[in-house]
Amino acid sequence: MPMMLRYMVAAFIMLVAAIFAISPFASTFVRQWSRRDVELRSVLVFNSVRNELANLLAVGATAQIDDLFGRLALDERLLAVGLCDREGSLRNRSKLMPADFSCEKVARTASASFSAIVSDERRLVAGSFPISTDRASGHLVLLHDLTFAEQRSSQVRTWITIALAAVALIGAALASIFALLIVRRWLQSIRQAIEDVKAGRNGGFSRDQDLVFGRHIRDVLQELRETTRSIDATRADWGPDALRLVLAGQLSDAEIIVVSNREPYIHNRATDGITLQIPASGLVAAIEPIMRACGGLWVAHGSGSADRDVVDARDCIRVPPAFPAYTLRRVWLSEQEEDRYYFGFANEALWPLCHIVFVRPSFRESDWDEYRDVNARFAAAVVQEAKRPDPIVLVQDYHFALVPRMVREQLPEATIITFWHIPWPNAETFGICPWKEEIIAGLLGSSVLGFHTQFHCNNFLDTVDRFVESRIDRELASVTVSGHETFVRPYPISIEWPPAAMAGQKSVAACRAAVRAGLGLSDSVRVAVGIERFDYTKGILDRLRAVDMFLSSYPEWIGRFVLFQAAAPTRTKLAAYRNLQNEAECLAREINVRYGREGYSPIFLVVRHFEPEEVFELFRAADVCIVSSLHDGMNLVAKEFVAARDDEQGVLILSDFAGASRELSEALIVNPYDLHSVSEAIGQALSMSGAEQRDRMRLMRHVVRSRNVYRWAGQMLLDAAQLRKRQKIVAMASREPKRVLIRGRFAKLRQVR
Ligand code: F6P
Repeated sequence: MPMMLRYMVAAFIMLVAAIFAISPFASTFVRQWSRRDVELRSVLVFNSVRNELANLLAVGATAQIDDLFGRLALDERLLAVGLCDREGSLRNRSKLMPADFSCEKVARTASASFSAIVSDERRLVAGSFPISTDRASGHLVLLHDLTFAEQRSSQVRTWITIALAAVALIGAALASIFALLIVRRWLQSIRQAIEDVKAGRNGGFSRDQDLVFGRHIRDVLQELRETTRSIDATRADWGPDALRLVLAGQLSDAEIIVVSNREPYIHNRATDGITLQIPASGLVAAIEPIMRACGGLWVAHGSGSADRDVVDARDCIRVPPAFPAYTLRRVWLSEQEEDRYYFGFANEALWPLCHIVFVRPSFRESDWDEYRDVNARFAAAVVQEAKRPDPIVLVQDYHFALVPRMVREQLPEATIITFWHIPWPNAETFGICPWKEEIIAGLLGSSVLGFHTQFHCNNFLDTVDRFVESRIDRELASVTVSGHETFVRPYPISIEWPPAAMAGQKSVAACRAAVRAGLGLSDSVRVAVGIERFDYTKGILDRLRAVDMFLSSYPEWIGRFVLFQAAAPTRTKLAAYRNLQNEAECLAREINVRYGREGYSPIFLVVRHFEPEEVFELFRAADVCIVSSLHDGMNLVAKEFVAARDDEQGVLILSDFAGASRELSEALIVNPYDLHSVSEAIGQALSMSGAEQRDRMRLMRHVVRSRNVYRWAGQMLLDAAQLRKRQKIVAMASREPKRVLIRGRFAKLRQVR
């Protein structure tokens, strides 16, 4: 029942109760008052006629007595007058004396008395007054009819009811108007507060709101504010606009600086001038759309041969060149620096250390020293570019494990969010690194440290637990070292939706036809694709071996199935990569010799860089996409394949050891080390019905669409915003000696003194 109605019913019940309580009391009062009235009148009448009656009685003048009684009875309240003699007989009476009246009914005492009697069904009051002379004595009886008192009492009851009802109605009307005004003001304030929460205005409650809200409502709204971040983070329509909204609403005055090794645009010298290359990098694919949407500064290694030719005096260039949205600040590295920091420590030590693919990491002191120095140079560039003391610095990847602490030392108020794009191994594996403590200490300069999966977060916490003196809060997933707290969070990286490369794509049928024509294949040949950097973590050799096994197990597919393997050359300075390429090329040749025939080779191994548009055309043309990483933080190729298939067809074969398998569970999940399982998965994919492909693809597309890269970045930025707000509160509260406890995602943010 609505509150207002409840109040009205309660008021009605109280009114009825009041009427019932007051009415009997009022009736009794009126009756007693009327009776007292008639008694007084009787005394007055008696006193006025006492002498005359005594005289008449003394002379026995019966006729005059009757006459006197007749006159007295003219009084409208007096019903009848009578005289009872000493023997109790009614000697004289006026005309209207009831026939059933007898002197027995009245008290005949020595003094005046009154008795209530019922006569002719009327309620009467009889006043009895003693009177005596020498000759005779008796009692004068004055009979009053009290029926008028009943009428009077019922009238009083009626008027009291009317008066109470009127008072109640007027009171209720006034109370309702008053309540409506209060409720209107209250609702306005709540609406305003909710709007504030929605718009991300977190300026606390106004004095007005404080006055009209109860503590409970205030707490609920506060809670709402706290949960805005998680509500936003789970919204399904993350896109550039939503991200911009988050920035405008939550971090309107924030300065964003990204720092990564790989730059988003590489300028190279070519015979016909300067060419622009977008590198094959998951990091670039993820961060670039974010920077396009939000603007800011991106500090990266200028690795292109023409990079220096196009920057300004501050080594900056506005990008993307076609529609500049943010600034790229290039940092130059000497060949030795690149060799030792990038190829050496980053890719021959940390890369194999974190990817458990049984390639032995090489730890060289000279590489480590260079790694530390280059990290210091990038940190210095960040500090130099920062316009405020508290920028949001997004540190990317394993190239810069030391940058967070270095920046923190110079910009203590900065919000540093570090994202580790590769897996974090178990503590035992990481423990072989000679500089493990320094690397962990460097990362713990971050405010938030992100990994793709919860599993990698857990591995990191275990590693810290094993090697660093710290306080670990497992519930909050935070590590505190020397008073600084770092939150460790999973942020599954993703791709933009819809991918830019989808714009201008031909229909799936046209892509199929174009790719098959390019490869000289008939329309009936089924095509599987593998597209990645030529990296030993991607399981390219194992994939080729699985195709070998598939064709030997199911020879009916010979001539009807091919694998198109696109492999972008990467880190070719390193022996492990060169060896991989040689081995893969040999293996592909062997397989082609084994199963090939005139006009048919089962393996197309194409070693070159593919532009995003080409990649998406291949994905759209393919029947199957094979991602057989031996270990991978996420793997965005899997998500790109799903995003490319707006026809909801095509089968994804996905390694269990790629982070993407946690989200894309409708793929055919395989163990890439188990050749038989991959070979069987290829067979299953090729014979899967269109309906099953659609069901699986539809679910995966929903995941990739809703958990896109804007959500990935949005979550991190919202966390940064929340953290900054809490830091402000802590700073304010630091004037007070007591510890501050705050509820929410970043609970128990402790004061840093
Ligand atoms: O996987 C880690 C990562 O940094 C990715 O983000 C990126 O796709 C890849 O390595 C690129 O490596 P590089 O910059 O050495 O070519």
